[in-house]
Amino acid sequence: MTAPRAVSAAGRSLLLLRPPLRVARAHHHPQQRAFATSLTRRSDTPDPRGVTQYTLNADGSVQHRQIGTRLDVPLSKEQAGDEPHLTAAGVDAYLTSKLAHPDYASDPALLRGLARADEAGLPKIAVTPQLGQFLAVLTKAVKAERVLEIGTLGGYSTAFFAKALPRTGQIDTIEYSPQHAKVAQANFLDLDLFPFPTVHVGPALDILRDPAGPFAAPPGEIDPGYDVVFVDADKEAYFDYFVEALRLTKSGGVIVFDNAIRGGRIAVPDGAEVPSDATGLRKIFDWIQADAGKTVLSAAIQTVGDKNWDGFAIVYKN
Ligand SMILES: C[S@@+](CC[C@H](N)C(=O)[O-])C[C@H]1O[C@@H](n2cnc3c(N)ncnc32)[C@H](O)[C@@H]1O
Repeated sequence: MTAPRAVSAAGRSLLLLRPPLRVARAHHHPQQRAFATSLTRRSDTPDPRGVTQYTLNADGSVQHRQIGTRLDVPLSKEQAGDEPHLTAAGVDAYLTSKLAHPDYASDPALLRGLARADEAGLPKIAVTPQLGQFLAVLTKAVKAERVLEIGTLGGYSTAFFAKALPRTGQIDTIEYSPQHAKVAQANFLDLDLFPFPTVHVGPALDILRDPAGPFAAPPGEIDPGYDVVFVDADKEAYFDYFVEALRLTKSGGVIVFDNAIRGGRIAVPDGAEVPSDATGLRKIFDWIQADAGKTVLSAAIQTVGDKNWDGFAIVYKN
């Protein structure tokens, strides 16, 4: 993966100058139109089992809506009835009150960034403070130097990675919506991040597969690649992201997929219709099963909390 390294080296030197804009704009592509159309279509046909719906607005922003979650443990105050203190969301609040690190989840600039994202009307679908700090722990534990993120939103999770990386590190993040990317950019400047994230704007698959783009690498010429890849975008494309992430991750690196459980929808019985937000992950799990340990070692962890019943999958590349 020679090209991304060259980009990163150039990016690092630019970083010192703190450029006002480091947004790499993807070329418009027919697939981008197809993506937009499919987004709208999904939102027109709500799925009662509970799906994150994406609607592409005329101004280029993306609206997300979570429809329903089934779970028999209390997630919110309303569900908890007589014991409103015993909720998954309440436990998350307790954990964050104890564990939020002054330079990470409690960084005032990070909190300002969330407020900025709210004001700009971005959906509240960033990782939780606990998952953010988990990603920071992971980044430090594997001594990562290079991180790739798919799905930037307002840059909340990106900031945890950037904070956990060494100053010589590199972080690339890909975001479909120019509006989200703009808010993320403002947040990165406010956070004074170093390394400063490079935001690549456009449909992630187009950017990752662009033969002339920063992630291109002819087969056989892939060098060590990324230490951590974090996938947190449109769930239907997760398998395609997995293929690209495997290509771009170094041996000994990890790939983390957020939203791997989807309120249990990942485990619909054989023969039942698989909800659209679980098909990608199921394809990944089928691939891992067939691979029988030759390429990866992986685990998927269920979580409850502020973000209801979901979880993440982590894949270690042999
Ligand atoms: C769940 S949010 C990311 C949250 C972010 N990782 C965080 O925790 O702060 C998903 C983001 O992915 C973006 N997205 C959705 N589909 C995409 C695609 N095909 N290519 C690039 N970005 C996409 C959405 O616009 C949204 O901003």
